[in-house]
Amino acid sequence: MNRSLAIEFSRVTESAALAAFSWLGRGDKNSADNAAVQAMRMILNQISMQGEVVIGEGEIDKAPMLYIGEKLGVGKGEEIAIAVDPIDGTRMVAMGQSNALSVLAAGGKNTFLKAPDMYMEKLVVGQEVKGMVDLCLPLEQNLRRVASKMGKLLSQLTVVILDKPRHADVIKRMQKLGVKVMAISDGDVAAAILCCLPESGIDMLYGIGGAPEGVVAAAAIRSLGGEMQARLIPRHQVKGNSPENQTISVDEIRRCEEIGVEVNSVLKLEDLVRDDNLIFSATGITNGDLLKGIYRRGNLATTETLLIRGHSRTIRRIQSTHYLDRKDTALYRLISG
Ligand code: FBP
Repeated sequence: MNRSLAIEFSRVTESAALAAFSWLGRGDKNSADNAAVQAMRMILNQISMQGEVVIGEGEIDKAPMLYIGEKLGVGKGEEIAIAVDPIDGTRMVAMGQSNALSVLAAGGKNTFLKAPDMYMEKLVVGQEVKGMVDLCLPLEQNLRRVASKMGKLLSQLTVVILDKPRHADVIKRMQKLGVKVMAISDGDVAAAILCCLPESGIDMLYGIGGAPEGVVAAAAIRSLGGEMQARLIPRHQVKGNSPENQTISVDEIRRCEEIGVEVNSVLKLEDLVRDDNLIFSATGITNGDLLKGIYRRGNLATTETLLIRGHSRTIRRIQSTHYLDRKDTALYRLISG
């Protein structure tokens, strides 16, 4: 993919983050998400490409914007598949909490698994222990293999996991083994990326989160040389066997069949993201371990963006200053709420 597109995609997540930030702490996650979606779409439509959303806000009938299959860009240039998560951590933005970010991955037409919006079991580790994990094995065995490869005791291992009722048991089990468990309320994209950055102090991410978040994170993990294995899990297995959840599961299983994937089967990193011809961009909305959040004073705002080019494995951190006083721009209207 043309290298000059990278900076264009960084503008997309910057704009979405700035738009989301104006809803910080207002208790309204839908408006925050909506603002980020609108900003993303606006900037994506200015890019010289033939883009198509493959991971987005949902189906056309449920999402008016950035729906799966939506065409983006000026209609000329490269054909590009786009996977977006306008806000990973909508609740964190609404409640003024840390670690929210805006994220996007772009690649060639067939780069990303077109995973349905359902749950995904994820196991992520960094480059140092690549080849040591296997989702088919019990978690305890994976923990022991990772610890031994790293020359650590289990008590020196740090695992991050979403703090959800479905994980209560596994959290207890890991703690009993002596593992240090960082249970986060939301936002497993940033956490997955942190596993691949040696200085983060996080050795593994495990647990069930969103599949779209899983594919977007996989783009960064692949470029950072890490490893990820995953399984698509039908809703009733995660949220309980109610008739409503069973109906949703039937649809999810059908969607998986359409993309040639069996639910509950193990997917490797190369099944999630098939080549390195990709660009990944994430901009911090609120302060987090991966990225600084937005700092805004009057019409001046600063953002921090992690921009990765898969082909060359170049990792850039871009600090930008934005003057938000251009009243003639659509972004200004979004940002001024
Ligand atoms: P949203 O901001 O899109 O709600 O995602 C936050 C998140 O925590 C993701 O990082 C995670 O993959 C997913 O939600 C987990 O889903 P659930 O909240 O249903 O357990």
